[in-house]
Amino acid sequence: MSETKTIRIGAVGISGRGSGMLNLLLQIPGVVCPAVCDKVPERAARGLEIVKKSKSYTGYEVHSYLDYKELLAKEKLDALVIFTTWITHSRIAVAAMNAGLNVAFEVGGAASIEECWELVHTSERTGKFCMLLENCCYDRKEMALFHMVKQGLFGEVVHCEGGYRHDLRDEISLGRENIHGRLYNFQNRNGELYPTHQLGPISKVLGINRGNRMLSLVSMASKSRGLNEWIKNNKGEDYDLYGYDFAEGDVVTTIIKCAHGETITLTHDCCLPRPYSRNYMIQGTKGCFMEISDRNALLVMDGVTKSTHEWEHFDEHIEKFDHPLWSKYTKDGVKAGHGGMDYLVLSAFVEAAKDNLAPPIDVYDTAAWMAVTCLSEQSVAMGGMPVPIPDFTNGMWIDREPYRRGVYCLEEVCDDFFTDQAEGE
Ligand SMILES: NC(=O)c1ccc[n+]([C@@H]2O[C@H](COP(=O)([O-])OP(=O)(O)OC[C@H]3O[C@@H](n4cnc5c(N)ncnc54)[C@H](O)[C@@H]3O)[C@@H](O)[C@H]2O)c1
Repeated sequence: MSETKTIRIGAVGISGRGSGMLNLLLQIPGVVCPAVCDKVPERAARGLEIVKKSKSYTGYEVHSYLDYKELLAKEKLDALVIFTTWITHSRIAVAAMNAGLNVAFEVGGAASIEECWELVHTSERTGKFCMLLENCCYDRKEMALFHMVKQGLFGEVVHCEGGYRHDLRDEISLGRENIHGRLYNFQNRNGELYPTHQLGPISKVLGINRGNRMLSLVSMASKSRGLNEWIKNNKGEDYDLYGYDFAEGDVVTTIIKCAHGETITLTHDCCLPRPYSRNYMIQGTKGCFMEISDRNALLVMDGVTKSTHEWEHFDEHIEKFDHPLWSKYTKDGVKAGHGGMDYLVLSAFVEAAKDNLAPPIDVYDTAAWMAVTCLSEQSVAMGGMPVPIPDFTNGMWIDREPYRRGVYCLEEVCDDFFTDQAEGE
């Protein structure tokens, strides 16, 4: 990436996530942020402060907005990053692409298939890209596993699993007090509300949208008890949400079938006590990786572990399989943000946006991964009936234009971009 080239990026949604991401974004060489926006005035003001206090700030004019449409109308930008609530990402992204900007937004699921198609059609019509900021695609563990898959160490991959298993009972329940968007979703929707943290890396392992696609899914939801128990114990009987009939089941399980026969199981689990885990699992004809918790992952693999009947700790093996991006990153100094992956996903976006190049997570990936949410809601509503998953590439998945190779590529490990000579260029 040309470090000297400047790019003007606006940021919308400056709550907890937006503040952290804006801070990181401003550490990427060449990034200038002349406009920030949040509909909550203190948060818009906080955005202004983050920009002005950043080390890279050179005294340029920065404006804050309460309305993203006004921001788009008044500012001359190259790109927009969106850290707002799930149901607002797409509409802001569509408006930004229509205004001629490349766009990236935080993870979340779609409310409708129409929303996903609108992203695809707007990106195709405007020539502007739309990238889901799925940071987990750039986690060290996920990248090492991708590297291993590409080296054929798993053999043929047959089944993958993953989940978003995160005890968020306080964050969800106190949504109104903290102006945080999850609560309304859990009150009103029942499905796989947050599929992409593990579906993103799994899709890249399985070549989804490039030679493979997701065909259909089934979803089932458990009963909902966890939030009620938390509210009873922490807020008491006088709290207005005491005894509320939450729509979202505590554990939602989704199984996806792919065109080449693979299956994917996703678990959404945010309302019961448990340590954080994305429970990643990859099973192939030569080996199996299984994440028990964030700090405990296991491996068996022909020719790598002593036996395929005894687990070994993945930590003992990761260094030899590190993705070259992570070897370089570790050498250069890992930046904060979920163990370093946040900086990498933002860097991947900036690299593509600076030169209007294809991003490593494109609008087809974004649409397909997000669509799982509204489709799982439909399946749950119909007692677990199978639901077809649209092909957002419109047939092109069997013969796509070549992907762009590079350091942030998620289709292939491009070793040649990491040689000393390539780095010196
Ligand atoms: N990738 C990750 O690891 C990770 C981690 C945390 C959160 N997230 C995602 O980041 C996003 C934001 O998370 P959060 O916890 O900060 O959410 P939040 O609900 O606390 O904040 C959303 C912010 O967007 C603002 N907003 C909503 N609609 C707006 C509009 N139309 N115009 C301007 N501002 C608007 C709200 O006022 C609020 O400040 C979510 O999609 C969340 O799922 C991702």
